[in-house]
Amino acid sequence: MFQLALPLSGWALVSVSMLEIPSVPFNLFVMPDLPLAESDPAESFWTSAHWYLAYAGIGLVALHFAAALRHHFWLKDTVLTRMIAPSSDHNAE
Ligand code: HEM
Repeated sequence: MFQLALPLSGWALVSVSMLEIPSVPFNLFVMPDLPLAESDPAESFWTSAHWYLAYAGIGLVALHFAAALRHHFWLKDTVLTRMIAPSSDHNAE
């Protein structure tokens, strides 16, 4: 969901921007704009959507990190070691 919606909202925000600054990923090519109408309110909307999606994603990564540490140090199970080396035998419960 984030992996698709987050970059798409970024692409939408530069597409509707009145600034018309071209995006040139890795200096390789000019990204075409999405077929959306340019306006200041549309730019505000997509900028907010991009902001919320980006920070929600960062929050989920932090939560996942904390949960992995909780499993390892508090619950003392094999969840973290299975994430690090999924194929090894961890004497799974
Ligand atoms: C996985 C992909 C992406 C991530 C994780 C990401 C994350 C972010 C974050 C964290 C910000 C700063 C928000 C803030 O604190 O103000 C930002 C801003 C921005 N991003 Fe992205 N972004 C992604 C993809 C894209 C793409 C594909 C585009 C456009 C082609 C884009 C265009 C922008 C622009 C123009 C801003 C500045 C918005 C403003 O403040 O006016 N992003 N992005």
